[in-house]
Amino acid sequence: MENEEGDNMERWMVTGANGFLGSRITEYYQDKYEITGANHGNLDITDEGAVTSFVKKARPRLVIHCAAISNTGTCQENPGLSEAVNVKGAVNLARACRETGSCLIFMSSDQIYAGNRTMEPGKEENTPEPVNVYGLHKRQAEDEIMAILPEAVCLRLPWMYDFPWRGLKSNSNLLGNLLKSLIHNRPLTLPVYDYRGITWAMEVVKHVEAAGALPGGVYNFGGGNTLSTYETAGKVLAMVTEGEDRSGLLIPDRERYAGQPRNLLMDTEKIRGFGIIFPDTVEGFQRCFEESPEYMLGLIR
Ligand SMILES: NC(=O)c1ccc[n+]([C@@H]2O[C@H](COP(=O)([O-])OP(=O)(O)OC[C@H]3O[C@@H](n4cnc5c(N)ncnc54)[C@H](OP(=O)(O)O)[C@@H]3O)[C@@H](O)[C@H]2O)c1
Repeated sequence: MENEEGDNMERWMVTGANGFLGSRITEYYQDKYEITGANHGNLDITDEGAVTSFVKKARPRLVIHCAAISNTGTCQENPGLSEAVNVKGAVNLARACRETGSCLIFMSSDQIYAGNRTMEPGKEENTPEPVNVYGLHKRQAEDEIMAILPEAVCLRLPWMYDFPWRGLKSNSNLLGNLLKSLIHNRPLTLPVYDYRGITWAMEVVKHVEAAGALPGGVYNFGGGNTLSTYETAGKVLAMVTEGEDRSGLLIPDRERYAGQPRNLLMDTEKIRGFGIIFPDTVEGFQRCFEESPEYMLGLIR
């Protein structure tokens, strides 16, 4: 396959290609790279033989592994499923990439830092013991992938959001939850003692290309934030409603994480050293709104 310039297109493979992130990566890069999408319908990543055959047939330069059980509650309730998909599935991809000489990007998570007992952002080289099944399995997957394929790139992603873009999949995310609350005039309860770098999915998507050229290793991959989730939502709501006071929609939850604030913030110095720079959370929302006028027009009026 050739691109617009008539050059042969580099081949990529995206797993979870119908999911929230995988669908956006596929859509964004479809004119630049020849992308083979693996979704749950055409590939079960827990099947090692099927994964090897699929990767051998696609012969990608880069595999972007987005397939997962991404819901932390599902993982907590069904650790066997979480291990099969989030650990074994990832290991299957790493083994297949080693066989075909493909590069691998693995999507990990800021949930790995949930055991951080300080208010400092977590650093890659100083990772606490994960406290939930999802975080534990993401950490285990990172370790096993790096042992099989030291050139692999593991990206620890923060909580992402986006508009329901051209019919692509939307997961539960802060922007979507806020919009639903606004539209239905329904209060939204958010934790006061919760800190994380909430990031526009399209910022992650745009930086994925550069991530494919990083040296093997684990990277925090998202924006910083000085505000709690509750405070962040207040700022975002004010941006969306432009002066109209709808702050009564937000209910502070002062009980959740009251004993020990949850700090999933990530230190981004390592990734900045490679020229990959994310805006902080509030700036990221501003950018998302500026770059999505088709959605904002409908909302503000
Ligand atoms: N969204 C976030 O805010 C966030 C934050 C941090 C990290 N991450 C990580 O980023 C990656 C992408 O997340 P996402 O939000 O795009 O998740 P998602 O929307 O849930 O997409 C994951 C996809 O994986 C597929 N899948 C599940 N089991 C499979 C299997 N056995 N074989 C093949 N495919 C399977 C799912 O297909 P079915 O639905 O058909 O089963 C789904 O389309 C995941 O690794 C996630 O853990 C996401």
